[in-house]
Amino acid sequence: MPTLNLAPASTEDYRLLAEKRLPRFIFDYLDGGAYQERTLVSNVTDFEGLQLKQQVMRDVSQLTTTTNLFGQEWSMPVALAPVGLAGMMARRGETQAKKAADQFGIPYCLSTVGICSLEEVAAVSGIPFWFQLYMLKDRGAVEELLQRAKSVGVKTLVFTVDLAVVGARYRDVRNGMSGQLDTYGKLRAAIDTYLAHPRWVMDVGLQGRPHTFGNLTEYVPKATTPADFAAWIGAQLDASVTWKDIEWLRSIWDGNLIIKGVLSPEDAIAAADAGADAVIVSNHGGRQLDGVSSSIAMLPRVVDALGDRTEILVDGGVRSGQDVIKALALGAKGTLIGRPWVYAVAAQGQVGLENFLGTMAGEMRVSMALTGVTEVGEISSALLDR
Ligand SMILES: Cc1cc2nc3c(=O)[nH]c(=O)nc-3n(C[C@H](O)[C@H](O)[C@H](O)COP(=O)(O)O)c2cc1C
Repeated sequence: MPTLNLAPASTEDYRLLAEKRLPRFIFDYLDGGAYQERTLVSNVTDFEGLQLKQQVMRDVSQLTTTTNLFGQEWSMPVALAPVGLAGMMARRGETQAKKAADQFGIPYCLSTVGICSLEEVAAVSGIPFWFQLYMLKDRGAVEELLQRAKSVGVKTLVFTVDLAVVGARYRDVRNGMSGQLDTYGKLRAAIDTYLAHPRWVMDVGLQGRPHTFGNLTEYVPKATTPADFAAWIGAQLDASVTWKDIEWLRSIWDGNLIIKGVLSPEDAIAAADAGADAVIVSNHGGRQLDGVSSSIAMLPRVVDALGDRTEILVDGGVRSGQDVIKALALGAKGTLIGRPWVYAVAAQGQVGLENFLGTMAGEMRVSMALTGVTEVGEISSALLDR
């Protein structure tokens, strides 16, 4: 439906703005998923397939979206998921996201492979943030990273378990990100970047430097481009990791431990047995094993298996406040958003992200009111129309 289109309203609006703003290869890296992108799509469409139940004539004049998790009050049950290379999508993107999350009162999780380092993000404010860890073959480097995280006040570690090997993202292949380009390809990529996206070149490409993996610079001293770091990370990802390694992790990390990337009841139980305080039901936003079920489809089975043993969060396909309510109705305590926050910060920086989070909170408030509940704790399966 044509409108004046003067201001972004929904996640899709921010996505379209980000698409205009970013060079094609960066937008596709953010927006795309693995292989045929079937799981990426079903993460979203399975939310769309769930219906909320309209419930009227209840006193919803006093309503709050706040929740308490890991001893922290969140203004709404949404955290910013770890996204690698966010600093390529907005100038020092990780720090802008941290500022917006602080402003809004929700957790921000820094990726191992962020452009900004733990120390740079910590310098934004004294409010603690989460740190996401990939297991590296160099366990000494892992210990040092965790030590650095602790010393900047990180209390919650998110350990990602669904990246034993990296799923191929065909958009990246087509854009020449995962392989060599011929001269014609290089020329076309340069034209798209420098001529079609001069604003990104100035704002992020030049003023947003350095584009190194801030947390890893000391381990890869010769690397100068994200591609150099990506090669190092590819070689460092430890495909031999098993639940036994969580015991080791537990022995060197005494803060909260969240296991991210379980998608089956059996793995969720194994995570709880290994000492996780929480699990994130996740398929990495459809970027790893294409063809697996959506996170929201698997959530109820994980909830049944785990009961109250750990907190249960979910990510993948959350695009609105209504989706957050659906996830909570199916038993999650909270949600994370990945692409949506990056679309917003890529489109309009920190302010854009704050506005976007405001929109999500507004959607949540209205949907809570119209489903007849006033507190997050009242959200249950009774709010779904089945
Ligand atoms: C561009 C991009 C980079 C990501 N990088 C990481 C990462 O470094 N570590 C990680 O645990 N998950 C990473 N993820 C996965 C997200 O944390 C999250 O699980 C996923 O984006 C959720 O799905 P959504 O984008 O549909 O919200 C990444 C996702 C995207 C889109």
